[in-house]
Amino acid sequence: MIGFFDSGFGGLTIMKSVVNFLPEYNYLYLGDNARVPYGTRSPSLVYKFTRQAVGFLFNQGCPLIVVACNTASANALRRIQQEYLPVAFPDRRVLGVIRPSAEAVFEKGFKSVGILATEGVVRSGAYLTEIHKLDPAVLIAQQSCPLLVPIVESGEQDWRSTDVVISSYIEKLFEKMAEIEAILLACTHYPILMKKICRHIPEEVSVIEQGPIVAEKMRDYLSRHKEIERKIGKQGKRIFFTTDDCARFDRLACLFYGEHVTSKLISLEGEYE
Ligand code: DGL
Repeated sequence: MIGFFDSGFGGLTIMKSVVNFLPEYNYLYLGDNARVPYGTRSPSLVYKFTRQAVGFLFNQGCPLIVVACNTASANALRRIQQEYLPVAFPDRRVLGVIRPSAEAVFEKGFKSVGILATEGVVRSGAYLTEIHKLDPAVLIAQQSCPLLVPIVESGEQDWRSTDVVISSYIEKLFEKMAEIEAILLACTHYPILMKKICRHIPEEVSVIEQGPIVAEKMRDYLSRHKEIERKIGKQGKRIFFTTDDCARFDRLACLFYGEHVTSKLISLEGEYE
């Protein structure tokens, strides 16, 4: 199984793109809905939660995990790869969403990019680091949008006031940098707001979504790492876990995943310290 992890529902948008692109593999999703949002939490707490989630997914037998959450990727991924994996699971792999997104910005040749993300991602500077490693000349403006994840997690994406919130964040982004060629939706929850976001952005500005990027990069990764690819089951199974109410997860997951899912409840507290 390929494990996908997010603080809540957002990672389902990423997993859906990957599943559509590579349907033969078995997939397992874990949403830490009991402790969402991660975006306003300290890096040390995000690390602790992410490590627990990764521990759970490895215990379920995943040889490969995608941390499909920008906040967790920015605040925990490197430490997990460098400190946890070599000691606890040397033959497994954990990937994130920041590096592939930075590569996509670079490959598309954008020279001025706006990043919409959580506070935790903006504060980490992870996008500045990763994009500038590839091209130090790219101009980047970042805007944190702390209200968007709670709006999406509570299923209020169609609320009239959501437009006001979005337009105010986008206004702030353009105040930081007037000339923007592309805006990266650097939070897995934001694609749900795509239509509303596009309404407040000049037509000539491209909007970049992470799902299709991660799907393509995953295909490349699997073709280059046969030793991992061989270990992934190929019966087309989909399994969903949440740390909070399953009925609520199943009801709202539909919006992100586009089809009905049946989840199982698990607890991460204390289990995978
Ligand atoms: N979906 C997560 C991300 O991509 C963050 C949501 C949260 O704040 O928990 O950053």
